[in-house]
Amino acid sequence: MISFKNASVTYPGGVHALRDVTLDIPPGQMIVIVGLSGAGKSTLIRAINGLVPLTGGDVRVDGRSVTQASGRQLRELRAEVGMIFQTFNLVKRTTVLNNVLMGRMHGTAWWRTLLGRYPADDLEYAMRALERVEIVEKAYVRASNLSGGQQQRVGIARALAQEPKVLLADEPVASLDPPTSHVVMRDLQRINRELGITTIVNLHFLDLARQYGERIIGLREGDIVFDGRGEDADEQVFRDIYGRSLTADDVLEAKAEL
Ligand SMILES: Nc1ncnc2c1ncn2[C@@H]1O[C@H](COP(=O)(O)OP(=O)(O)O)[C@@H](O)[C@H]1O
Ligand SMILES: [Mg+2]
Repeated sequence: MISFKNASVTYPGGVHALRDVTLDIPPGQMIVIVGLSGAGKSTLIRAINGLVPLTGGDVRVDGRSVTQASGRQLRELRAEVGMIFQTFNLVKRTTVLNNVLMGRMHGTAWWRTLLGRYPADDLEYAMRALERVEIVEKAYVRASNLSGGQQQRVGIARALAQEPKVLLADEPVASLDPPTSHVVMRDLQRINRELGITTIVNLHFLDLARQYGERIIGLREGDIVFDGRGEDADEQVFRDIYGRSLTADDVLEAKAEL
């Protein structure tokens, strides 16, 4: 579904955020990317939908080159890739339902969205997406009135409403408390399993990565230094990925005990 071939990103200023990365992700896999801050996790995720252009190599989604996509092709490709953000990125002054409907804008005439009028199909799709993250009763509540965990579930529903083939989540639980982090990770896991959507999640906490990562990719200074099953990623593996000994900040459960 996603394949990187000798992919590199060097930012202006000379930082090598990805170095010659080759990686194949089959359809339906749930991947967790781990690495220290600055390791290149966000760059890797953003390269998949063309938000960050490669400076070398290629990345393909469902057989199509992101690197070579024209403006229109890139828009079509992005419509198939749902994004979930650390800070949720909702429009807070409007309803949950409107936020989710925005996930369907690529299929809706722009003037309908201005009028707040959507086809009935879109409404049904949006409500079903809200049902999947068990928050349908909040459909008519303003996004600003939700807790962080609820907002993130709306963010997931918005991505789902897009009917994506791929879901990308960049540190989706970094702003949440430990119990809520598990709720959100379980939502992502359930969606991955039930809908078979290829899912890539950037995480920092090693216990979460181990628990939810069907496959873990370890990044260190732009290089893949580990690629294996979650259950095979022991503490030594994480020490290698992080290039240092582990601390309480690396474990979500430790945060829970504070
Ligand atoms: N827009 C940018 N311009 C210049 N350097 C950047 C930019 N974005 C990220 N970087 C640098 O690239 C490296 C990888 O960043 P990033 O992909 O955000 O890592 P992570 O998500 O793992 O923290 C870091 O050294 C970061 O400072
Ligand atoms: Mg990042």
